[in-house]
Amino acid sequence: MIRQKIVAGNWKMNGSKESILNLVNGLLEGSKSSAEVVIAPSFPYLSQVADLTANSQLTLAAQNVSEQAKGAYTGEVSCSMLADFNVKYVLIGHSERRSLYGESDQLVAEKVKACLASGFKPMLCIGETLAEREAEQTIAVCERQVAAVVDTVGIEAFKDIVIAYEPVWAIGTGLSASAQQAQEVHQAIRAYLAGLSASVSEGVQILYGGSVKASTSAELFTMPDVDGALVGGASLDAKEFLDIIKAAG
Ligand code: 13P
Repeated sequence: MIRQKIVAGNWKMNGSKESILNLVNGLLEGSKSSAEVVIAPSFPYLSQVADLTANSQLTLAAQNVSEQAKGAYTGEVSCSMLADFNVKYVLIGHSERRSLYGESDQLVAEKVKACLASGFKPMLCIGETLAEREAEQTIAVCERQVAAVVDTVGIEAFKDIVIAYEPVWAIGTGLSASAQQAQEVHQAIRAYLAGLSASVSEGVQILYGGSVKASTSAELFTMPDVDGALVGGASLDAKEFLDIIKAAG
């Protein structure tokens, strides 16, 4: 099965009205690709970016969402709010959410469930820490993180879920996993899913994230189980991000 590549930019807590206007305009000039190009601004800029990207090939993602539907949850943002801004994907379980804001596997699974119920496609982020890699726990950790979601929403739901493998040690460090290291883990994740459903496993898009740059992305994208990239720092620079998109074909 041919899986469409996805190149997604996670802007994290960066940007201003002005810098985002420049960045989106830069991307709009050159983002034609066979890959789906996704950008994930912070909440306050979703409206601005939704307007700027209307009728374009750029797709919008949110960086997080509440598992709750509405009510007294100060500081949270619900799925129904995101639905007002042309959002298609929601990043769920990013390692920064897991490690800095205490999001557990179970909470991540609840958020995935809320997204699916509202018609969004969750980008489920998983990945091991350096200590876990050194203890040869990489595959076990990734399987545990995926299994928590399977247990909550079922394997068929993965037809609407994108997985992003982001080794924690590679995020923001400049130390990207090699294309072979990424392939090894992606293949293992797909094999795990195949044990539950061969057809779901064939179709699920698995992105790599962690210090992706234009210079490393071409080799990354030749790997059979790497279906794109989730890019942090390099997605804040229009030229660099466009070069990564170009590498995806
Ligand atoms: P960097 O590309 O800055 O390492 O960030 C990766 C990431 O966390 C994307 O979600």
